Amino acid sequence: MKKYILSLDDMDEVVSDVASHFQSGVVILRGDLASGKTTLVKKIVAHLGIDEDVTSPTFSLQHAYAEKVFHYDIYNHGLEHFMALGMLEELEREGLHFIEWGDDALVSLLREADINVMSVDIEKISDEKREYRVCTY
Ligand SMILES: Nc1ncnc2c1ncn2[C@@H]1O[C@H](COP(=O)(O)OP(=O)(O)OP(=O)(O)O)[C@@H](O)[C@H]1O
Ligand SMILES: [Mg+2]
Repeated sequence: MKKYILSLDDMDEVVSDVASHFQSGVVILRGDLASGKTTLVKKIVAHLGIDEDVTSPTFSLQHAYAEKVFHYDIYNHGLEHFMALGMLEELEREGLHFIEWGDDALVSLLREADINVMSVDIEKISDEKREYRVCTY
């Protein structure tokens, strides 16, 4: 596990760490409302040279950026509903898949399916700083 405490304009370390592990697989993003999950996806998409707007996929199942980064928010769907919609197959697609509000049950499920998985837990330290804990399995 790696830990970083970073401000908004200083997120390069966590961005390159997350982007360095695999090119295809799932990154689970955990953290309270407004901790910075969507912001991390935004910075990684920019780091990968993709010039597309990253917004929260609150009401849609998936946002795709350059057909190689995929972004989900399962807060409103719940894990069971999300899986019932056939999302496991989607997550096996080549590319980086970011899932806001994933949990340990999803980590286990992905590992059983032999899909690369890592998680980032984000915690608000102050208005200006967040703690990032990056775990690979
Ligand atoms: N490292 C950081 N340091 C300081 N502020 C940050 C950092 N990362 C994100 N923020 C700020 O936190 C706020 C919330 O960010 P964001 O929308 O990414 O959160 P979220 O976890 O996706 O929220 P939600 O749970 O609603 O999806 C934004 O104002 C953003 O600028
Ligand atoms: Mg968000």
